[in-house]
Amino acid sequence: MSDLVAVILAAGKGTRMKSNLPKVLHKIGGKPMLEHVLQAAETSGATKKIVVVGFGSEKVEEFLGDRAKIVLQKEQLGTGHAVLQAGALLEDFVGTVLILCGDTPLLEGSELKNFYDLHKASGAAASVLTASTTNPTGYGRILRGAEDEVLGIVEEKDASTEQKAICEINTGIYCVEAPLLFNVLKTLTCDNAQGEYYLTDILLKLREQGEKIGGIITKDFDMIMGINSRRQLAEAEVIMRTKILNKLMDDGVTIMDPASTFIEATVEIGRDTIIYPFTWLEGTTKIGTDAIIGPNVRLTNVEVGNKTQLQFLYGHDCRVENNVTVGPYVHLRPDTVICDNVKIGNFVEVKNSNVGIGTKLPHLTYIGDSDIGSGVNMGCGCITVNYNGKKKYRTTIEDDAFVGCNSNLVAPVKIGQGSYVGAGSTITKDVPANGLGVGRGRQVNIEGWAEKYRNS
Ligand code: UD1
Ligand code: CA
Repeated sequence: MSDLVAVILAAGKGTRMKSNLPKVLHKIGGKPMLEHVLQAAETSGATKKIVVVGFGSEKVEEFLGDRAKIVLQKEQLGTGHAVLQAGALLEDFVGTVLILCGDTPLLEGSELKNFYDLHKASGAAASVLTASTTNPTGYGRILRGAEDEVLGIVEEKDASTEQKAICEINTGIYCVEAPLLFNVLKTLTCDNAQGEYYLTDILLKLREQGEKIGGIITKDFDMIMGINSRRQLAEAEVIMRTKILNKLMDDGVTIMDPASTFIEATVEIGRDTIIYPFTWLEGTTKIGTDAIIGPNVRLTNVEVGNKTQLQFLYGHDCRVENNVTVGPYVHLRPDTVICDNVKIGNFVEVKNSNVGIGTKLPHLTYIGDSDIGSGVNMGCGCITVNYNGKKKYRTTIEDDAFVGCNSNLVAPVKIGQGSYVGAGSTITKDVPANGLGVGRGRQVNIEGWAEKYRNS
C-alpha cells in the first residue's frame, strides 16, 4: 500500500446550510464541493481515497461512484468519530493519513502535497495545517506554548475569551501517522460543549503520549475556507470565480466585467477573445481566438471556433465553427453543427441539424433534424416541419438553394441543389435541383370588390 491515504469527511448534515441536500453536494464553480476536494486529494499524491458518508449517504454515494472507497458513519458523533470509521479499511496500513473535510472546496492539491512533504520532513507523528486570519470566528484555535510549539486545538464553543482572541486557526487538514491515528481515536471522549468526539483532541492526546506534533502555517487563507452557511458558499464562489477569471485574463482573454461573468474552471478560451457582460460559460465549452462572446450568452458544452461572434443566445451540446455570427435571441440545441461563415439572425432555433458553410438563417426560423448545405438562404419565417406527433423526420436542403419567406418544409423532404422555393409555400414533395417548388393557393383578384362591399 502507498504511503499516503486521504480520508475525506463528508458525513455531516451541514445544519447551518438549512438544506435537504448534503452540504458537500452544494455546488461551487458548477461542481459539488466534494468534487473539488477529491481533485485536490488526487493531485496531492494520495493513491487511495476514503470518503466518510452519513447524512444523505445515498446521494453522496451516487455522486462518488467508484471514485473513492466509502465508509458509513451511521450517527454523526463528531469529526473524531468520523475518521475512526475509516479505520476498518486501513487495518494493516502503515503510512500517513491525510485528513480532509468535504466542505473546503477551494483547496489545491499542490498545497496539500507541500504540507505532506513538510510533515514528513519534520518527523512528527501528527501535523495540522493552520492559517492566520483577522476573523477567526467559527474555527478551532491553535494553542501554542512558550517555544511556539503546538499544544493542541480548542474549538470556538469551548474556548475562553482569551483563546477566542487567537488568530491562528485549524484548517481541519491533518497528516497523521497510522496505525497511531486509529489507536488514539479510540481513546477520545465527548466531554465538550458540543458533546462530540472531536478530531482536534488527538493532538493533545498524542502530545501527552510523548509523540511529536506540529503545526504548519499556510499563507493562503482563502484556500482553506470551510463552508458552513449559504453566505460562505457565496463568498467562496466569488473567490473561485475571481481565480478562474484572473487566470483567463492572464492568458490573454478580455473580460469586460468580471462581476457579471461566470466561467467554470473546465472552460477553455483562446487569446484575444472578448467576453462581454452577463455571460455564462459552462462544462466542456471551448472557445477559439478573436471571438466576441456576449452580452447575455450562456453556453453549456459548446465548441466555438475563431472569430465567431455570439450575442444574446443559449447554446448547449453543439458546435459553432469559425467566423460565424449568431444572435440576438437564438437557441442552439444539442447535436447541431454550424459551419464556417454562417449568419444566424434573430429569433432562430436550431436543433440536431447541420448548417453548411456561408448559409444564412437571418430571422424567425426553426431548423430541426435537418441537413442544410452551403450557401443556402432561408427566408424569414421558414420552418422545417419535422414532427407529425408520432415520429421525427429529416429535411435536406442542398447547396445554394433559396427558400422563400414563410415556407413550411414538411419532412421527410429534399430541396435540391440550386433550387428555389416560392414564398409562402408548404412543401410536401421533393424539389428538383435548379427547379422551383411552389406550394400555395393561387391569388385571385376581383375588380371593384371593395367598393361593392362598402356600399352593401
Ligand atoms: C471543524 C474543526 C475546527 C476547524 C474547522 C475547519 C472539529 C471538532 N472542528 O469544525 O477546528 O477549524 O473544521 O473548517 O473537528 N463531519 C463528519 N461527521 C461528523 C461531523 C462532521 O463527517 O460527525 C464532517 C462534515 O461533513 C464536514 C467536516 O466533517 O465536512 C467538518 O465538520 P464541521 O461540522 O463543518 O466542523 P466545523 O465546525 O467547521
Ligand atoms: Ca466546517
